[in-house]
Parts: sequence; C-alpha cells; structure tokens
Amino acid sequence: MSLLKVSRLSKQFGGLNAVQNLSFSVEEGMIFAIIGPNGAGKTTTLNMLSGLLTPTSGTIALNGQDITQLTAAARCHLGLGRAFQVVQPFPEMTVEENVMVGALFGARQSKQLALNQTHAVLEQTGLLRLKDTSADDLTLLQEKRLEIARALATHPSLLLLDEVMAGLRPKEAQEAVELIKTVNTSGVTIIFIEHVMPVVRDLADQVLVMDYGTPIAEGSYHEVTQNPQVIQAYLGTDEDAA
Ligand SMILES: Nc1ncnc2c1ncn2[C@@H]1O[C@H](COP(=O)(O)OP(=O)(O)OP(=O)(O)O)[C@@H](O)[C@H]1O
Ligand SMILES: [Mg+2]
Repeated sequence: MSLLKVSRLSKQFGGLNAVQNLSFSVEEGMIFAIIGPNGAGKTTTLNMLSGLLTPTSGTIALNGQDITQLTAAARCHLGLGRAFQVVQPFPEMTVEENVMVGALFGARQSKQLALNQTHAVLEQTGLLRLKDTSADDLTLLQEKRLEIARALATHPSLLLLDEVMAGLRPKEAQEAVELIKTVNTSGVTIIFIEHVMPVVRDLADQVLVMDYGTPIAEGSYHEVTQNPQVIQAYLGTDEDAA
C-alpha cells in the first residue's frame, strides 16, 4: 500500500482549473518531486494535501485512510507536516519557541516531551546554537531551516516542502539538500516542489511534472528531463536559451 494515494484530484477557482484530474502515489521512504512552470498548480496541489484547500473533486488517502475531508490539524496529527513557499515563522518569538509551537501542536504531548522533541529537531536542523535568537534575526538559509524544523517538530511521517531552496545561493542550497537527505534517512517520506533542477536531480527518486493543472509526465529525473513534452512546456531547449 502506498503511503499517499491521490486520485483524480481537481481544484477550480471560479472558472480556472488550477488542478485537473491529478493522480499519483508516493511510496513510504521516497523523496518525490513536483515540478512545472509557474502557475502549473503545484502549490495548489500541496495545499489540498495539507488540508489548506478543499478539492473540488477527487480523493486523498494517507496510509489507506481517506483524509480528503479532514482539517489540516487532523492531518497533522496523522503525520502530515508541511513547510511553506513563503517562510512564515512567528517573528517575535525565538527559534526555540517557534519549533516548540510545532512540537506542542503536532503530537499533543506534554510540555517536557515537546521540549525534548524541540531540542532533537533543533540539533538535526543545525539550529541548536541559535535557539535563543529571535526569528526576526535569522539569515534566509536559517529561516528555511527553521521552517523545516517547525514542520519536523510535528513529527511527520510525510513532509511537504514548497520551494524551500528559493532565494538560496548554490552553496546554501547544497546545505539544504543535505538537510533534506538527513531528514529522509531518519525515516520521513518527502514531497517537494522545486524549480532548481540540480536540486531535483540530487534529491528526487520520482518526479511528477505538471503543466496547466494537469500531469504531463512522471518518472525518474532522467526520464522526465528527456521527455519532449516536458522540454517544451518547462525545461526549454538549448536553442531557446541561445
Ligand atoms: N486562492 C486562489 N484563488 C484564485 N486563483 C488561484 C488561487 N491560488 C492559485 N490560483 C491560481 O491557480 C493556478 C495555480 O497556482 P499555483 O500557486 O498552484 O501554481 P504553482 O505551480 O505553485 O506556481 P509557482 O511555481 O509560481 O509557485 C494559477 O493560475 C494561480 O493564479
Ligand atoms: Mg507555488
């Protein structure tokens, strides 16, 4: 059984079909990428997975359980964690407090357990020495780490990441790639949206390509980047670049 199974998912905004008839499965332990041009429906898809948006039609199953009608909070308790395209920590709180919110919210656990969990996550994400720093004062890379840490603190089995590399310099992006690999190795399945293709190549076991709300290809990085439809819709050719 797949960890996540999405069946014929659609989302309309007024007359716009943001996502149309999208089906895919994600196996446990996998790193799964969603790519495609701006406006392809990637974030909308992630928002339906996390429960931020209600699908117009279709179903989402986690571990065989239909979660389509569940709230974001209920999904979080079932092991669905997410980080946002636009980083949104509580700016007036410290790094530790921000992660603590996730730990308390996700697992409904005691304060002491949540604190232990918080410290484990801060260590894993390389933020322990910054725990008393105000979220306001972080660099972009540190903010991204905090965004991942907050999601991890909810103890997800499936982590959803929306463009966590955006705005990072290549060296910083490489650090973020290593962090995501570490998180995955610790037993967390990952779905991520990304425009930076070397990152997709380095991380993804499976790649889904969307265009105008519909899936146009799915396969390994190598397979989808050779696909003529994907090259035309998204990657472009060397001639385009010239
Ligand atoms: N809340 C909304 N109301 C109306 N239209 C929306 C809403 N959210 C997204 N859209 C539209 O739905 C389409 C898909 O948007 P979405 O944000 O999912 O794209 P994306 O693939 O994440 O793009 P990007 O790579 O730019 O982040 C776009 O045409 C967008 O303008
Ligand atoms: Mg998006």
